[in-house]
Amino acid sequence: MTADFSPPANNEPHSPNLFVEPLSYRIHGGDGQAYLGNTPLSQLAAHHGTPLYVLDGATVKAAAHAYQHTLENHYPGEHLVLYAAKANLNIGLAQKIGQLGLGLDVVSGGELYTALQAGFPPEKICFNGNNKSADELLMALHHRIGRITVDNLDELALLHELAASSGRTADDRVPILVRITPGIECHTHDYIQTGQNDSKFGVDLSELPTLVHQLTTEYADTIELKGLHAHIGSQIFERQPYIDSAKLLLNIYANIRKHHADIVLTDLNLGGGMGIAYTKGDDPLPIPATLGFIATIVADYCELIDYPLPRLLVEPGRSLMATAGLTLYTVGSQKTVPNTRHYVAVDGGMGDNIRPALYGAEYHAVVANKASEAHTLSGTHPARIVGKYCESGDVVIPEAKLPANVTRGDILAVFGTGAYNDSMASTYNRVPRPATIWVEGDAIIPLVRRETYDDLLARDIPLK
Ligand SMILES: Cc1ncc(COP(=O)(O)O)c(C=O)c1O
Repeated sequence: MTADFSPPANNEPHSPNLFVEPLSYRIHGGDGQAYLGNTPLSQLAAHHGTPLYVLDGATVKAAAHAYQHTLENHYPGEHLVLYAAKANLNIGLAQKIGQLGLGLDVVSGGELYTALQAGFPPEKICFNGNNKSADELLMALHHRIGRITVDNLDELALLHELAASSGRTADDRVPILVRITPGIECHTHDYIQTGQNDSKFGVDLSELPTLVHQLTTEYADTIELKGLHAHIGSQIFERQPYIDSAKLLLNIYANIRKHHADIVLTDLNLGGGMGIAYTKGDDPLPIPATLGFIATIVADYCELIDYPLPRLLVEPGRSLMATAGLTLYTVGSQKTVPNTRHYVAVDGGMGDNIRPALYGAEYHAVVANKASEAHTLSGTHPARIVGKYCESGDVVIPEAKLPANVTRGDILAVFGTGAYNDSMASTYNRVPRPATIWVEGDAIIPLVRRETYDDLLARDIPLK
């Protein structure tokens, strides 16, 4: 049985972020078995245990294609899509991302180390973060990664010192971007423009003249400014803030060139942030149409202000990875609080998905071995799905609809967990973290093994 991956009728690439389920998700058989690729989810759970993170290779590839194909078709200049590794990273996934031709945005020494161990091309790595340590910066310098995104003037001074002591010279300057706070704040459905942004990230616009002055004087022999970076938020459902941000950056480029004729910035990084559908009620933007529109505006605006087309960089995390992922849990205890609600507990929770507790994030779920319409509709049964952690706030889905015959041992699939789940996971209550597998057609590729009790003890030092 093969899933249908043919492109949509309008010939635009798929935009997986529009759907709650991954692309290769299907329901087959009278008993309503949910499949990913060619394998029933209940079989994946039986073979690999639960909780289990499952990534749909077809969805990751389609999302990567949506970004890359759109920039190829709509942006006449150079471009690079950098996957934001904070969304989800392990060695195998970094290798998959590399094979897809994407770059990587890392924000810590650990992410950078993982990428390097995966053999990721250093020149396609960009290093973000508001407080990189000297050791982290030295690792980046040593491996000559593509770009360091400097977050503040203090870090710029530190980088200059480290570059000078590492022997970097005027012929071999460190290529950097500078992250600015553009005064645009986005929340899923609305955004505001403020003159100033009270944010821990980025250089305030008022500090730009000082920054440029330093780069053209005391740091001129160690550091080369390649462009600016602005990341305006996450789970964004609007395109206008990106347009406003891009134009603001390009106006700054023109202004810098006006005062320093020799500085023509060649990179423009618009950050990540495009939203996805976590629930059937979410209505995110399609990647191809949105990015295509933004790319066209950037190109047109460059023409208008007579600026050479910069290399366009974007840094999606969630919209590349979240929809590809689902988490499988096994149903355990159930209870009904009279006149109040029914509780269904699963064998994971806030340790493998902190987002509901942290942000009130919402998710959609099915019982993977009872996923048919008949099961779902005949017995739609309100329940609160909770985890196994010792916190009342350990709720997976507060108001779920499950088949009435849900029972111990059933497999629950929660969608949209490919981003910011494993990467934010903890061992709270000393519960080992789940394994991750990649499923593509018949292939099932393990990416991360399940943590063991001995792994939990590995850092402990018994008293002598
Ligand atoms: C600098 C930067 N780039 C990219 C991203 C990725 O954002 P998203 O996962 O919403 O696409 C983030 C997320 O916080 C970020 O801080």
